[in-house]
Amino acid sequence: MTELFTEIDHIAIAVNDLPAAIAWYEEAFGATVEHQEVVDSDGVEEALLRVADSYIQLLTPTREDSPVAKYLANKGEGLHHVGYRVKNCAEALAAVKATGGRVIDDAPRPGSRGTTVAFVHPKTSFGTLIELVQE
Ligand code: CO
Repeated sequence: MTELFTEIDHIAIAVNDLPAAIAWYEEAFGATVEHQEVVDSDGVEEALLRVADSYIQLLTPTREDSPVAKYLANKGEGLHHVGYRVKNCAEALAAVKATGGRVIDDAPRPGSRGTTVAFVHPKTSFGTLIELVQE
């Protein structure tokens, strides 16, 4: 079958203090923020630090009912999800559904920086929350 992943888009890390996390990545690795955005629909603020053709995405909640706030409360800081870049988000989502997989987004929706995204439930993907990202 056709390979649908084209690149790792980002590794998302949930943090309590976004400025502190950014400052540490800058100080320790010389990383720089390429993009920062509040995504109201998800209740998060994110900072993207470039690593070659991919990003580290530092994520922090902007309100208490945000899924990331619940994640931090339950599990603490750490790896939150892996974003895989795909040519066509709808096609990749359909492929997951065709395997009987459980999805969080039934249809592709707008993500940050003008992307189109859909999340796959970690129960399906062996414990990892997966985001399909179409640029
Ligand atoms: Co993401």
